[in-house]
Amino acid sequence: MQALGTNLEILDLRHFAAPMLRPLLEAECALWIDRLHWDYRSSARLLMQYLENRMLPGFAVVESGKVTAYVFCVYEESKAVIGDVFALPAAPEIANSASPELAREQTLLIHLLELLLNSPHVDRIESQLLLHPAGRFAHTFRAAGFEIFQRLYMVQPLQGRWSQPSVELPAHLELRPWRESDLAPAARLICEAYRNHPDSAINDQYRSVHGSMRFLNNIVRYAGCGTFATQASFVVVERASRELAGLVLGSRVSDRSGHLTQVCVHPAFRRRGVARLLLGQAAFSFMRLGAAEISLTVTEANTEAIRLYSDEGYRCAHTFDAAVWRRAASA
Ligand SMILES: CC(C)(COP(=O)(O)OP(=O)(O)OC[C@H]1O[C@@H](n2cnc3c(N)ncnc32)[C@H](O)[C@@H]1OP(=O)(O)O)[C@@H](O)C(=O)NCCC(=O)NCCS
Repeated sequence: MQALGTNLEILDLRHFAAPMLRPLLEAECALWIDRLHWDYRSSARLLMQYLENRMLPGFAVVESGKVTAYVFCVYEESKAVIGDVFALPAAPEIANSASPELAREQTLLIHLLELLLNSPHVDRIESQLLLHPAGRFAHTFRAAGFEIFQRLYMVQPLQGRWSQPSVELPAHLELRPWRESDLAPAARLICEAYRNHPDSAINDQYRSVHGSMRFLNNIVRYAGCGTFATQASFVVVERASRELAGLVLGSRVSDRSGHLTQVCVHPAFRRRGVARLLLGQAAFSFMRLGAAEISLTVTEANTEAIRLYSDEGYRCAHTFDAAVWRRAASA
């Protein structure tokens, strides 16, 4: 870790009213759009509301009266999720070859990790810092006992994709648009699809129907990952049972970009082109909605899915780390 200047303080984020963090969040929004083509402004507005209500757990770096970096987490029962860490890029006259913003981010992360690791009610910590390139905090996380999983951010340009997918489903399956009433069956599907899957190690919500429902509510109802796009979300249903065989969920992350927040197929219906059809349908719908590109994230170990995405025209545009810590059971 690099040395920080002496004229700075690290304070609890709940000391600050929202306007103090506005310049920082504006700089962060600019980086999200530049690096990932995501419009982060609605997330920033939500963070501002939490800050205004002094409800966001985390820390801030204060230098000469200005907040120059922050880190925050949210709690889900006994799990803590580190949502973000970001430092204002240093002015060119201050920035030398060492990266002062990286030093601030690492310092804040270490502060938050110390707090969480010493909180007896926290038995699990997860973090996916999508904005930051893989490796940036790997050392900090590993030193605190975390396991790291590399993930890919893949993007497919949509220009010229004018035709609907031509995959033919077996006769007992049918494709239809997503409906609000699919939430509970979708939670059951996610739980089945991710049994013993690397992504269940990264996100423990996938391990239960209750957790999957929480994941879905966050995506579909609370705009937890962009604005849910009903028109770009589809399910494949088994005609006889009416149970879901597969689904794709789309969100709008900027005027020009769609994002797939979930793609999965029940193990009993795999290798029949269900995922290929769902991906094609979502891409076609986003194209008709005026998006220029579509993105998704996938774990590096999920080689089957990466093969499918590459086949469909997705290319890796960025890599990032997922970090997970579990409290060892006491003897
Ligand atoms: C990945 C997943 C969605 C694929 O669903 P699917 O309906 O079986 O996929 P498709 O039948 O459309 O397969 C399309 C292509 O993907 C690749 N593929 C899919 N499963 C594969 C496997 N088990 N082994 C090798 N290649 C595979 C192949 O290229 C396949 O084409 P092919 O069958 O013509 O060889 C499904 O396995 C799944 O739900 N996995 C668990 C959840 C998950 O990983 N979701 C993605 C998270 S990012």
